[in-house]
Order: sequence, then structure tokens, then C-alpha cells
Amino acid sequence: MLKLIPTPSKIVYGKKCFTFKKITEAAAVPDFVLEELHEFFKAFKTEKAFEIIGSLHIKLNNEFSSLGSEGYRLSVDGNGISVEAFRENGIFYGIQTLKQILFQCGNTIPFMTIEDSPRFSYRGFMLDAGRYFYKVREVKEFLDLMALHKLNTFHFHLTEDQGWRIEIKKYPLLTQKGSRRSHTNFGFIPRGGYYTQNEIREIVSYAHSKFIRVIPEFDIPGHTVSAIACYPYLSCFDRKLKVATHWGVKHDILCAGKESTYRFVFDVLDEMAELFPDGEIHLGGDEAYKMRWNLCPRCQAEIKRQGLKDSEELQQFFMSKVNAYLREKNIKTIMWNWDDIQPTKRLDPSIAWNLCGISDEKLPVIKEEIKAGREMIITSSFPYYLDLPYGWINLKSAYEFDPVKGFSDEEIKRIRGVEAPLWTEYVPDMRTACLKAFPRLGAICETAWAQEENRSWEDFLERMSFYYDFLSLYGVKGASLKKAMPSKIRAAASSAWFNRRQLHWQGLYNLIDDAVVKIKAKQL
Ligand code: ACM
Ligand code: ZN
Repeated sequence: MLKLIPTPSKIVYGKKCFTFKKITEAAAVPDFVLEELHEFFKAFKTEKAFEIIGSLHIKLNNEFSSLGSEGYRLSVDGNGISVEAFRENGIFYGIQTLKQILFQCGNTIPFMTIEDSPRFSYRGFMLDAGRYFYKVREVKEFLDLMALHKLNTFHFHLTEDQGWRIEIKKYPLLTQKGSRRSHTNFGFIPRGGYYTQNEIREIVSYAHSKFIRVIPEFDIPGHTVSAIACYPYLSCFDRKLKVATHWGVKHDILCAGKESTYRFVFDVLDEMAELFPDGEIHLGGDEAYKMRWNLCPRCQAEIKRQGLKDSEELQQFFMSKVNAYLREKNIKTIMWNWDDIQPTKRLDPSIAWNLCGISDEKLPVIKEEIKAGREMIITSSFPYYLDLPYGWINLKSAYEFDPVKGFSDEEIKRIRGVEAPLWTEYVPDMRTACLKAFPRLGAICETAWAQEENRSWEDFLERMSFYYDFLSLYGVKGASLKKAMPSKIRAAASSAWFNRRQLHWQGLYNLIDDAVVKIKAKQL
């Protein structure tokens, strides 16, 4: 009857309906519930808000501890609507469900009882604000949309080759210079922007009001060209670079053989730790090519000094050392998993992985890591990378993906949940972001929240027209169903269009840079 996304664990309908009456006496409703409802009715453009508050009963109740801290029970009967939960988080998600009910039912709601709780405790969305800057207002829009999808973890990718986005008082150049690039993939227009520390506090506080934790990412040792452009001593061979203009993996990364690199990293983390109180920081670790380290006398000396085998082990040592620094502050570290399968004996098992590639070939290694105690967050590029074209990941394949397929019950205990990243190399604005993220995020949130046995593609498809209407309340225009489920020919065309974008001059720059550094290394 009702269409809800994500679908709840259990819903039972009664025979009658409840109709809102004129308000007599407002029930006591917590402020965060009032705010959510006011915001909803502002979007919904009706005058019903106050009548509903008069019929709404909110109660924290230990009886519901079995539903966990995010579960809730929503019931509608002759007395009105009750939302009960063990914790406020659960009340908040009950209210999100209520918004979808009110949107469909107006002021006459069928009697019902919903009992609902999430499949995973980590339900994430990542915004890459490094490639393109998104304004504070736009970040808040993403947070609003996350809450509507019952997502609870915002991974904020803040540092990239193409732009440094967070004010660090000790290193003012990072934002003065590192936040701007002279041109982009799209043309010769400069782009830039950064968040002041006050704006970061504002974003974190807004996220918390939506029961969303914020995990900032300081991507090291790769993806650091914007920082090297400001402080060349951070790199091997003290390279003088510009903030990257185009996408593509860069070969200049932080030098792991200098004390000054660690000083910089620790200083940045000191300021980040003050701004982000949720106890986790993401250290990136992805796509750190080792061309420079293999040639750098300082990196090579460090490998010898520490008794390491090679540059790969040097990265494991580097990440573990920074992780140890964060652990002293009681902060947990997350990083991207290695792009290639590597033995990880030098990588501290307390570092959790965002798993971006799960294949039959990788599965045994991942299982070994889990056995050694490493926690995992499923971020598999298929189907969770929202920037990839619908020709590669259509709505159905995003929906049908079971994130923990192939893992045993014991292993699943160490899988915290799922995350969908929005990389923005080719996503310069909100309009494009919405076309990429929606409706796929609707499918993905159901893989994160709903119980596997309750999921069905046919049923999801039935809910799509409601979902589009609901999104449009919030001004979100996603890809049409025709675009999200392209025919074979359209799919091939969208893949070809996406692949064409990979042809660019950056690859050539990398080759030239490699040759220059090789000559320099020989002269040392
Ligand atoms: C990644 O896709 N660079 C983690
Ligand atoms: Zn070096």
C-alpha cells in the first residue's frame, strides 16, 4: 500500500484510518522533531504541520532496545501517530518514514504498525569536494538528502591534487594558493574555494542535527599535489608544481623519507582533530604510485633504516605511523584498500578499509585481513561509485547488489556497512551531481538499511514514481528511469562517452615529469 524507501523491516496495516483533527493541545515533541517536520512542511507547502504535531506522540522507550539505537516503532491508531524508539536516532528515522507517509496520505493515514531497524550501522555517502568545490549550502543539501535516505555517515573528501579545501591555520598557503586551479577538464576557467574552520564547524554541527557523523579525509601520501604546490619540500626532489588542473593519477606524492613530512601531516591532523569530533579520520592511501619513492635517496634510506622490503612496505609503514599518531588521540583511521593485492604485514590491522574493489581474486585476501582484525566498509566501485555512467551501473544492478555476498556470518561481524562515494572529476555542479546520484542513491540506501530478505527489484520499481515525486519536493531532479535503465545501445554510448573523457594530456605530462625526475635523480 504505502511506498517507502528504504523499505522497512516490518509493516502491518489495520482496517481503519486516522484523520487529523483540529489541534486541541500540542503534545510534547522534542525540538529536533519539530525542526524536521517544519522543514518537511515548508517543502510540502501545506498548513497541516500543527495539526500533526497535536496528534504525534514521541517516546523514548527501553522496551525497544532490541531494535538497536537506530530502530523505531511507528504506529498509527485512533489516538494518532506514535513514534517510539530506544534512542533519539531511532525517533529521527521514524520521523523520516513519517514524512514519506504524510507525503502520500495527506491527513488521512491508514492504521498501521511499522517496526524498523537498519541492516548496517555504517551507511555512508562521500562527497569529493576536492576536484570541485561545493558551497556550504550545497553540502547541507547533501546532508538533508542523506538524512531522508537514512544514511548516517558523511565522508568528506577535503584534500585532492586539484584543490585543498580546509583552512589550516599553521599552513595558510594551503588555502590561499592550494585551493585554486587555473583551469579544469571543462575549459580555461579558474575554479576554487575552501571552507574556513568556522564553516567546517557549521557543517559538522548541521550534520549532527541530522544524526550524521562526519569523517574528514586527508588523503596521503598520494593525491597531494595541491599541498606540494604550496610547500615543495613535502615532495621527493622538492618538486615545483602547480595545483593539478586535470584528472588522472599524479606521480608526485609526499616524501616518506623526511621528518618534515610527518611534522606537516601531524600538524594538519592536530587541527582536523579539533574540528571533527566524531572519532574517525580517513587518511586516503589510494593511488600512491611509487615512481618517486623508488628513485628518492631519502625514501630509500628510510626503507633501509626500518628494515622494509620495498616502497610498498614503506607506504604501509607510513600509514601505520600516522595511524599510531591518531590512536594516541583516540581517533580511528580509515583508508582506501590497496588498489592491487599486497601482503600487508606492515599495515596496522586497526586501520579500517573502505573496500573499493571486491572480486573473486581479491576475496581470499580480504578474508585474511578480516581474520587479522581489520574492519571493512563496502565501497565497491561496482555499484557504489556514483560518478560512473548508468551504462556501467544501471539502477537494477545497483539495487540487486548484496554487499556481503561471499562472506561468512563471522566475517560479516567485521563489516561495518556500505558507502557510496561521489567522485567529482566530471561533476562540476549540483545539477550534475543529482543526475549522477539519483535515483541510484535510493537503490543504494536500501542495500544499506533494508534486510536482504525484504528486498525485491520488482517492488522497488513499483516505488519509483513515488520516489521521483518525493525527491522533487526537495528540488532534486535525478536521471529519468529511461536514463537510469538504458537500453543496450544507450548503455554502450554512455560508456563510450565516459571512456572518451579519459583521453587527456595529463598522461603525457606524467611521462615528461617522470623523465625529468629520472635525470635529476641521476645527478644526485
Ligand atoms: C579511489 O577510487 N581513488 C579510492
Ligand atoms: Zn622521498
